[in-house]
Amino acid sequence: MFEKEVAGVELSAELNQFISEWKEKPGNLIMILHRVQEEYGYIPREVALELSRMLDVPLAKIYGVITFYHFFKLTKPGKNIIQVCMGTACYLKGGGDLISELERLLGLPVNGTTDDGEFSLEAVRCIGCCGLAPVMTVNGEVFGKITTEQLPGVISKFKGN
Ligand code: FES
Repeated sequence: MFEKEVAGVELSAELNQFISEWKEKPGNLIMILHRVQEEYGYIPREVALELSRMLDVPLAKIYGVITFYHFFKLTKPGKNIIQVCMGTACYLKGGGDLISELERLLGLPVNGTTDDGEFSLEAVRCIGCCGLAPVMTVNGEVFGKITTEQLPGVISKFKGN
């Protein structure tokens, strides 16, 4: 889903159509940014520039919205997205240790992506499986009662896929 590369400012027909449908509506910028992130997995700078031109909105305003809503990403996510729950139950059961160990194993900071683009690491709020704390997910697959010792095995399951 996130494989699309940015070639200049060539937007897909679907995205162009979505933008023209929303162009004049209130709240359009957020809707359009959501749609862009759905398509690219993040908000590429070239696309932000194109939106600024098409919607006649200053680029600074677009970046203001992107940075205000933590949901929007400015960098391309890795092929595999690891999310570690840092909700209360998971935190108390060692969610922080999972993050530190993943940072060490993958050589990246939280919210970062490995140089080869294989993995991104995120800390997230409660994902609703507190009984399985500590919990992490990889591409949406849930791993519960996970220990730091099990992390290399989980990583290798997804690496290169
Ligand atoms: S606190 Fe982690 S799933 Fe609820």
